[in-house]
Amino acid sequence: MPQYTPMRENTASGWGSRAKALHWLIAMMILVEVPVGFIMAYTYGASFEDDNMLALHNLMAQIHITNGFCILVLVLYRLSWRFRNPTPALPAALQAYQKWLARLTHATLYGLLILMPLSGWAANSVLGDTERFGVTELWFFAWDILPPILPQLPLEHRFGYGFFATIHRYALYTGGVVLALHVIAALWHHSLRRDNILLRMWPAGRLEQGRER
Ligand code: HEM
Ligand code: HEM
Repeated sequence: MPQYTPMRENTASGWGSRAKALHWLIAMMILVEVPVGFIMAYTYGASFEDDNMLALHNLMAQIHITNGFCILVLVLYRLSWRFRNPTPALPAALQAYQKWLARLTHATLYGLLILMPLSGWAANSVLGDTERFGVTELWFFAWDILPPILPQLPLEHRFGYGFFATIHRYALYTGGVVLALHVIAALWHHSLRRDNILLRMWPAGRLEQGRER
């Protein structure tokens, strides 16, 4: 039986182990980030009445901010890796609009993976250190707080907390729709079109397991 050695680099027809690892690691981190974000948002009101809720809210904020920041770092690294490597070609038999749709979906996902952490970071920065919540800790190497990227602004300011929180929320809704399309497309390739698109991104998938159609 031929020995399968995963390659770190991408080739013209398949994803290398590093691109696969980054894809699935970031996907898992988002699986954590979204529910933690919702718990953080929904414990905000209750945190005024109950100290346990305040502790839970602060813990969720720490996880959300640290994990979200790591997502940003990994996405930037993933993009830099992508530009230094060949991008596997889509099956030649796909219609032009299908290829275009795939590229648009991927570009939107990358854009949102940068916009989401940046808008969240900006929201936290303009909010600054509040009497009640203080600056949220960051568990990232030697940093113990999230350094602000914008100066603190009053809540009612046009570009205050609400502005960036709204961008964060709309980016989330857009991301939900685009991600659903992305997953449906991956399953369509695998189950209906029966090509190698899902297998070539699958952690243990081999190119030769799928058919290039
Ligand atoms: C890809 C990364 C991220 C995802 C998927 C994400 C997702 C979410 C979700 C699901 C919520 C709750 C929904 C809501 O309140 O409307 C939320 C809220 C929030 N996130 Fe993130 N987040 C990300 C990164 C970050 C980062 C890095 C920060 C800060 C440094 C941050 C700061 C916030 C803040 C301040 C809120 C509350 C917004 C509000 O008041 O509505 N997020 N996020
Ligand atoms: C939060 C979760 C996810 C995010 C953010 C995400 C993002 C992306 C991005 C940006 C690409 C483009 C790679 C590039 O061209 O550099 C990609 C490729 C891919 N994704 Fe996802 N993905 C996620 C989850 C999933 C899931 C759950 C599946 C499977 C059901 C999946 C299947 C694929 C496949 C098969 C490709 C390769 C497409 C090709 O070979 O042209 N992804 N993903």
